[in-house]
Amino acid sequence: MSIKIAPSVLSADFGRLAEEIAMAEQAGAEVLHLDVMDAHFVPNLTFGPMIVKAIRNLTGLTLDAHLLITEPDTYLDAFIEAGADAVDFHLEAFEPSERQQRATAILDRLKEAGVGRGIAVNPDTPVEWVYPYLEQLDSVLIMTVHPGFGGQKLIAECLEKISLVKAEAARLGVEISVGVDGGVNLETAAEVVAAGADVLVAGSAIFHAPDPPAVIRDLRSAETAA
Ligand code: DX5
Ligand code: ZN
Repeated sequence: MSIKIAPSVLSADFGRLAEEIAMAEQAGAEVLHLDVMDAHFVPNLTFGPMIVKAIRNLTGLTLDAHLLITEPDTYLDAFIEAGADAVDFHLEAFEPSERQQRATAILDRLKEAGVGRGIAVNPDTPVEWVYPYLEQLDSVLIMTVHPGFGGQKLIAECLEKISLVKAEAARLGVEISVGVDGGVNLETAAEVVAAGADVLVAGSAIFHAPDPPAVIRDLRSAETAA
């Protein structure tokens, strides 16, 4: 399976968002990664469904809404209606006593809406947390930084989660795509691809580069380098 490149608009220039997105599209990116932050689940605040909808009107790229919020269930329909093609939420957002019920309700709703179902896993969270949901998932997003901000260093120890979750999916006979989010750049991409990632999310490495399209192309060629 060939890898997909998912520029994270967190590091884009929002005053020139339409141009930034057109650049990503022309450079051959497959997915746009949209970090929704609520200043509670993570110590940062970004944007909500209004901006997702505005981006929807700008591009045919697959829109992946990464919900870094404490109440993904409350706001889920707003992101579905805004035109997200896939949603990643965090099990860490929920109290253990209600985790299973809330996660299952989200996954059911996404399935009903025909929206891609993803769970994101923070660096300190064992990847085993997603195992009970694998049969209801399209993707798993392995966080390789503590989420909240772009431009952090990749925590390489998290990469072993990719092969663990893929082995469990294979054991269950299900196919999932595994993405890596945080600190992916031209130095780290080969290691990330070699670890088995299907999707590379990259924010600052792309949007803060002097030649962003070249970075998108070079990230993809990490596949052959790996
Ligand atoms: C981290 C976000 C990432 C972020 C990655 O909190 O979930 O999607 O944009 O940024 P870089 O690629 O700069 O590490
Ligand atoms: Zn993200």
